[in-house]
Amino acid sequence: MTKKGEPLQQGSLPRRVQRIIKISSGFNKPFFSIRPGHTASGALKKTPYTTDTTGQTMKDTIRKLAKEKNAIILAHNYVPAEIQDVAHLCGDSLELSIRAAETDADIIVFCGVRFMAETAAILSPEKTVLLPVEDAGCPMADMVTPEALKKRKAQLPGIPVVTYVNSTAAVKALSDICCTSANVIRVVESLDSEEILMTPDRNLALYAASHSSKKIHLWEGFCPFHNTLDRKTVSEAKKAHPDAFFIAHPECPPEVLAMADAVTSTSGMIRMAKESEHKKFIIGTETGLLHPLRQACPDKIFHPASPEMYCPDMKKITLEILKNTLEKESGRVTVPEDIRIPALKAVRKMMAIKG
Ligand code: 13P
Ligand code: SF4
Repeated sequence: MTKKGEPLQQGSLPRRVQRIIKISSGFNKPFFSIRPGHTASGALKKTPYTTDTTGQTMKDTIRKLAKEKNAIILAHNYVPAEIQDVAHLCGDSLELSIRAAETDADIIVFCGVRFMAETAAILSPEKTVLLPVEDAGCPMADMVTPEALKKRKAQLPGIPVVTYVNSTAAVKALSDICCTSANVIRVVESLDSEEILMTPDRNLALYAASHSSKKIHLWEGFCPFHNTLDRKTVSEAKKAHPDAFFIAHPECPPEVLAMADAVTSTSGMIRMAKESEHKKFIIGTETGLLHPLRQACPDKIFHPASPEMYCPDMKKITLEILKNTLEKESGRVTVPEDIRIPALKAVRKMMAIKG
């Protein structure tokens, strides 16, 4: 099922994804502009901490509401700066999953996209998981449907399925183990089988294959915003900033990863920038990451590899929407038990892999 509840036709993709693939087909051309009123990093241009009717700043109101309701606000590293600043915890997909599983809070508010909130609901069914923007989705997650995966599994009997967390709960339920960009190599190496089917991200699978002797069967999914980065754009960025260290996300195409000084997850990039002796960086991921990078390393300089790496779904949330979500406890995400139990097995198997 799609997040709107309509069944997916076998072999076809949701219209939303077909539209994005069509828009993205000329990858060298810019296809998304910066959202009006926002900077390239997705932050609101106006002062974000406006006061509400009680005279409190929005940040204070949101934190007060969260305290009263015993709610934890989790935010992905790509959401707008003002949302990251009000959240209790920001992180990459793996860190957020771990925190969602460990928290004592009654309510988890997930500032990110649907698959992230679904993962929290899979791990903590007794908690109320809220997704502030109900149609915040991940086009890549929609590129694999349960029907299509069942068909492919039948063609590859006995071969384990590794599924990126950027996937629906129904697809996770059909998988042997999940992975994130932070642990994909460890996950692939943890399996006994010499052959693996990886869904949905082709680029992540190629990255894993380049670090493993295993045969990896690809799924032709991709992130429309990471997949847009090409050699020409990176060469231009390197020419403009010759002394910068280039870090790329594994969702980028292999020819871009080959030009990178390092490849890692979003939080991996923050850690690397903090620990590195380098002072200048070119960042090959969604531009929302520039905010936590600049906060973590105020004395260092970060250039986006391309300002076109902009995920509109991650930018849909505002402080007003977050406040309303907490007030009304709206946008609840649940996963039916017949899907949650097998999906939990795949997520837990991933989380048991340390390192
Ligand atoms: P990470 O933050 O796990 O690196 O993932 C990037 C991403 O695209 C999340 O949607
Ligand atoms: Fe999905 Fe790409 Fe957006 Fe991440 S950046 S949520 S992979 S579309």
